[in-house]
Amino acid sequence: MKKILFINGGMRTGGNEDAIMKAAMEAAKAKGAEVVDFKLRETNLLPCTGCGRCKSEKMAYKCKWHDGFSSILPTLLDADGIVFSSPIYYGYISGPAKTFVDRLYCLMNPAKGPLDTKKKKFGVVLTFGGTPEEAAQELAEKVKGYFRMTGADELKTVLRGKCTEKKSAAKDEATMAKAKELGEWLAE
Ligand SMILES: Cc1cc2nc3c(=O)[nH]c(=O)nc-3n(C[C@H](O)[C@H](O)[C@H](O)COP(=O)(O)O)c2cc1C
Repeated sequence: MKKILFINGGMRTGGNEDAIMKAAMEAAKAKGAEVVDFKLRETNLLPCTGCGRCKSEKMAYKCKWHDGFSSILPTLLDADGIVFSSPIYYGYISGPAKTFVDRLYCLMNPAKGPLDTKKKKFGVVLTFGGTPEEAAQELAEKVKGYFRMTGADELKTVLRGKCTEKKSAAKDEATMAKAKELGEWLAE
């Protein structure tokens, strides 16, 4: 059974991020996967302070903070697939999404080298108002790069503009079909 971690960086309860992530989760579940729904807006997430403790051998791949990130870290490394979602805010991912990404810095340890993690399918969901789709695709690829140390490998995206209206994505059949496809692909 595949284990898929869904990291939801959406800020609006019942918004476009939620609709896409829910559809992908349901599709993955229907194909027999175990899913973990991790909403950043409901998580106590402390910022990386750049203290560098995670670069020592003793603290390799660990962070000094004990919070939502440290509690999800074992699942993040162990999962067969990860989906990371965020609305585009000022051309980039949301604040909590960026805070989460910064904390991945603890997975880089020059003394010990790269982590021996299994390769993972990696989904990126981005919703936005008017950002051109090519810019969103570029951002999705960047996001995958940030997750390299977790084993993020093959990338599949769901990118959806015109999302200032809360229910926009949910009403769009093509977007919901892409979300379902993402969930099924992860469960394969
Ligand atoms: C603070 C803020 C900044 C935003 N910046 C952008 C932007 O740079 N480009 C864009 O296309 N949409 C932008 N938007 C629109 C959001 O991306 C859009 O409303 C979002 O996808 C909605 O997702 P949700 O329904 O899950 O909240 C912004 C919205 C907010 C609230």
